[in-house]
Order: sequence, then C-alpha cells, then structure tokens
Amino acid sequence: MCGIVGYIGKKEIIPILMEGLHSLEYRGYDSSGIALHKGNSLNVIKSAGKISILEEILKKKGSHSNGKNGYTHCGIGHTRWATHGEPNDINAHPHSDTDEKIAVVHNGIIRNYQEVREKLVKAGIKFLSTTDTEVIVQLIAFHLKNSNSVLESICKSVNELDGSYALAILFKDEPQKIYGIRKESPLVIGIGEKENYIASDSATVSRFVDKIIRLGDNEIVEISLEKTIFYDLVGNKIIKNPQIVIKTKDFLDKRGYKHYLAKEINEQAEVISNLLSDYLPSAEKTVNFDFLKFDKEFLKNIDRILILACGTAWHAGLVGKYVFENTASIPTEVQLASEFLNLKPLLTKNSLVIGISQSGETADTLAAVKKALSTGAAFLGITNKPDSALADLAKDKLLISKAGTEVSVAATKTFTAQMTMLYLLAIFISEHRIPSLELGKEINMLKHELRMIPRLVDQTLTRAEYYQEQVIKYADKRDFVFIGRGINFPIALEAALKLKELSYIHASGYASGEMKHGPIAVLDPNVPVVSIIVPGETYDRVLQNSLEAKSRSAPMIAVAVDGDKKVDSVFDTVLHIPSVSEIASPFLTVIPLQFLAYYIAEHLGRDVDQPRNLAKSVTVE
Ligand code: G6P
Repeated sequence: MCGIVGYIGKKEIIPILMEGLHSLEYRGYDSSGIALHKGNSLNVIKSAGKISILEEILKKKGSHSNGKNGYTHCGIGHTRWATHGEPNDINAHPHSDTDEKIAVVHNGIIRNYQEVREKLVKAGIKFLSTTDTEVIVQLIAFHLKNSNSVLESICKSVNELDGSYALAILFKDEPQKIYGIRKESPLVIGIGEKENYIASDSATVSRFVDKIIRLGDNEIVEISLEKTIFYDLVGNKIIKNPQIVIKTKDFLDKRGYKHYLAKEINEQAEVISNLLSDYLPSAEKTVNFDFLKFDKEFLKNIDRILILACGTAWHAGLVGKYVFENTASIPTEVQLASEFLNLKPLLTKNSLVIGISQSGETADTLAAVKKALSTGAAFLGITNKPDSALADLAKDKLLISKAGTEVSVAATKTFTAQMTMLYLLAIFISEHRIPSLELGKEINMLKHELRMIPRLVDQTLTRAEYYQEQVIKYADKRDFVFIGRGINFPIALEAALKLKELSYIHASGYASGEMKHGPIAVLDPNVPVVSIIVPGETYDRVLQNSLEAKSRSAPMIAVAVDGDKKVDSVFDTVLHIPSVSEIASPFLTVIPLQFLAYYIAEHLGRDVDQPRNLAKSVTVE
C-alpha cells in the first residue's frame, strides 16, 4: 500500500507529481502530499483525504505553476493507505525531521518503529505524528549529524530498521537530488533525457519515459538531473542497466464508462478471448504453455497442488481446485496466504505451489510463497504485473497482463483472467499425464466449452440493464446471503465479497449445504438469499437448500440459466445467464453478481472505484 513518486527535470513539477499520484491512487487514498525544494527550504504540502483535496489546496495556493511559486524542479509525492496512525493531515506523508532538513515518503511498515522511536525520544527528539515513517526521517536526521555524507546517514539508518520499505528522500542541502532505497517494497526509476523519475510501479514512470530500472532489495539510488547512481548498503557503487518498457494504453482513460469498475466488468469477454487466442487458439490443439520450464516427468508426477492467494485471487484458486481435481485428478489445497503462514508446509519435491496475485505485491501471498518454497516444491506464479515481486520469485509464470491494468479496487476482470489461466493449466497438466479414456474425453469437452466462453460472457454482459432493473430494488436490505455448491461455492464467496467491498452492506457466502447448520438463523424479510443454481450435479441440492430459505420468508434471488422454469417459479427474482455446462459456469455466474454489487453500490451513492478503507495493492502482512 501507499504510492511514491518523485521527479527531477526541467518541466513543471506539480502536474507531473499529480499525474504520478493519480496513477498510484490504487495503492491507497487515505491522504496525499508532496515535498519540494523552494529557495533554501523544503516545502511540504499534504492533506487527509483523496488526491483531489490536495489538488484543491495547491490550486488555492496558486502552486500549480513553477513560474509563480518559486519551486525548483525536484520533488516527491505520496498517496497513503494508513497502517500506523489514523489517516489525518499530520500523519500524511511526506514526513520531515524536527529541523525540516529532510523529507521522506514511505511505502511499507517498520516493525521495530517503537523501539527506534524510544531511542530517539531519549536523545531529545520530539515526534509530531504517530506514524512509523516519522521514525525513519528522524533517524536519518540523527545519523546525518555524525556522517560524512547523506548516503552514509541512509545506510546507518536502514541498518537499524526492521521491516519493509520503499523510500524517496529529499535533503534540504542537496536541492538537485532525490535518494531512493527499497527492501521488499517496489521502487522503479524512470530514465529520461535530462530528467529522471522514481515511483512505486513501472506503469507510473512509463507514462513519462520508456527506459526503466527496477531497484533491487537493499539497493540505494541517487538521482540527479543527468545521472542515476546506484549503491549497495555499504556505499559501494553498483552497475544497473535500464530496460525498455512497452507503453500500454492509458489505463486512466474510462472510455466512456461512468466508473472503471463498469469498464472492467465489460472487458471480460475480450480479456478471456485474448488469453484463449494466445494459449488455446483451437479446441483441437493442446494448450500452448510450452514456455513453462517444468520437465515432463515432473508434470506427470505432481503429487499435490497448493494454491496460495488472498481475497478475490483466493476465490479464483478455489475454483481452480475443482478444475485440477476433476480434470487432472491432482489433490489440490487452496490456502489463504495469511493462514498458511501459521501452518506446517506439507510439500514434497513433486508438489506444485501456485501463487495467485493480481498485483504480484500482496505481502501475505509473497510471505506464504517464500515459506512454501523453502520445502523445495516447484512454483508457478499467476499475476497481472510482470514486474512485480511475485513475478520475480517465479521462474515459471502465467501472466494475465493481457487483461490490462485493473484500476478499480474491486477485482473483476483479473478474477476471470486468473480463472482462465487455472483452467488452461489444469488442461495443460492433464495433457502431460496420459489421462484415462473417459478423462481424455472430458478434457476435450472442456476445451470446446472454454472456446465458447468469450461469446457466452459477451451475451451475459449485454444483459447489464436488465440486471440493474432487477437488483436495485434490494438496495435497502440489511444483509445478503449468497449460496452455491461445488464449483459455484467460490462464486458465492466472491459475490459476497464484491457486495461488501462496494456497497458496505454486510454479506456472507456459504456452501448451500451449510445453510441449515447456522446461517439460516439470520434469515428474515430483510435478508435476501442469492442462490447460484445451474444445471448439473449440484442443481437439485441447491434448489432444496433455497426452498428451505424461502420458507423462512427471505427474499429469493437466483442466478440461473435461460428457460429454467422450475427456478422461475420458486424465486422472486431470477438473473438469467445463457445456458452453460456446470464446470464452465463460474465464468458466467459471476457476471450478474458483479453487476448486482456494482448497481446496488452505485444506487447507494458509494465510491465504487475506491471503496473506503481499501487499497488494491496490500503490501503489509
Ligand atoms: C486487496 C484487494 C482485493 C484483492 C486482494 C488480493 O485486498 O482489495 O480486491 O483481491 O487484495 O490482491 P492480489 O493483488 O494479491 O490479487
């Protein structure tokens, strides 16, 4: 969480810092701020709330133009997701030392900040904020007094810090320089002609330049107008070469949609179609994952799959479990990354660990993957970010970057993209395992079904207005219960998560068989039950569980296929989807439920793209 940006060059600095901050807003939006050199001092302007509030403040100060405001062309900015200290003006970044000689922006957490703070307080230093970040800047200031260079003060300081950090630092006495350092949080340098950038992600720096350098763990960068110099933690210079990034379409363009979320939901048919064109261009061919470096013997002998993820990515993993077990006959366990940290990793060298993370930065997922890999198991990462820490960890990876950047905090198109990759992977592994005749037929059938998915998803998306009409009448309900079985149980979990994060209405997802074991007690006319009920093995039982709920006077909503008369007669509202097989149904059943969450949240006037308290990239455990 938290986004960092910095610029040194000849251009108007404030518009650049603001554009950078908007590009990083997905990382948190509790507060924002900038620090710039002005005359002989460091100026910090910051505020609680969204970046738009900071922009208003800057406009009022007339600070948007360098000509008028006297700022130099060197500055840093920050957008915050609060971890230590509430999201108020004082706790907003940048933070300064008592003498205002240094300004720091930080992404990450300092675990031993209390210990360091106590030491500094004993030395007479007074703290203004309750953040861990102020400890960093005060510590650097403390060491600067007894150091020969600012570099030395940075090295001495980070040696005392335990935690994760990406920092951009300005020193009053070095007005033409930005220093950066990272450990476990991303930091990317953008190299231009007589201008240089620093930011938390490559998408932000590549808005301005196409040459980037990713800072490694425990590396320091000194950025000036014409040079970037890299050091290790003892101050030795290191050589790093830039790489060229291909500019992607401007992801901040909403393309006519009111919200990024609506745009991203509507892109799902195209996203799945693009992934299939690359990896399964025809159902008659094998899945084209030959770039994976696993040897054939390993693929034949995988004894267990362990999927590690958080949030929506975890739900994609749960769908994956059904596909791996049914298609490839491999026992598959799906663990919440944060929980796996408390478990004993029971893996062998024939086990395959799959880490799924849209951002590739989720701290829990990274920590869990590292723990799993310490057993010697093989690893594969699925991520939307080729330059993320997860991608760095994974020799073998399945990139879903064709999905394009997902701006809205609630994941939608990356969820269906992750599912697509898991289905393809299950087929790929099965094709290497010489399946039984019957399983072989099922695999072929699944390939045909997958090829049809983009068309069916497209048809489902065209029903958005109908879904809207059907669902907004439930916007005043107190709680929602979503139920599903088998492969649609994870979709019930995902639907509940989407509704909660977007509308703030309490919602839970249950395996429909569990309803009678407790959840049924909460039902009343204020608690709609949403059943995911598609033809197949689970149909009769989900219907039975739904009837049990109906007799407790809960309003009844179903997601069901076209022409299902039985469902039409039982439920108050039916969100129809095109006819689809049970195994491929999650691609379709999730769509009306994404719309349900979106339209209810919009109706309630919620900030659907940036729901309160959330961030898209969660870089703290
Ligand atoms: C955050 C987001 C969720 C996301 C989860 C995992 O909590 O708000 O939408 O599912 O992180 O993110 P990842 O980037 O690892 O997929």
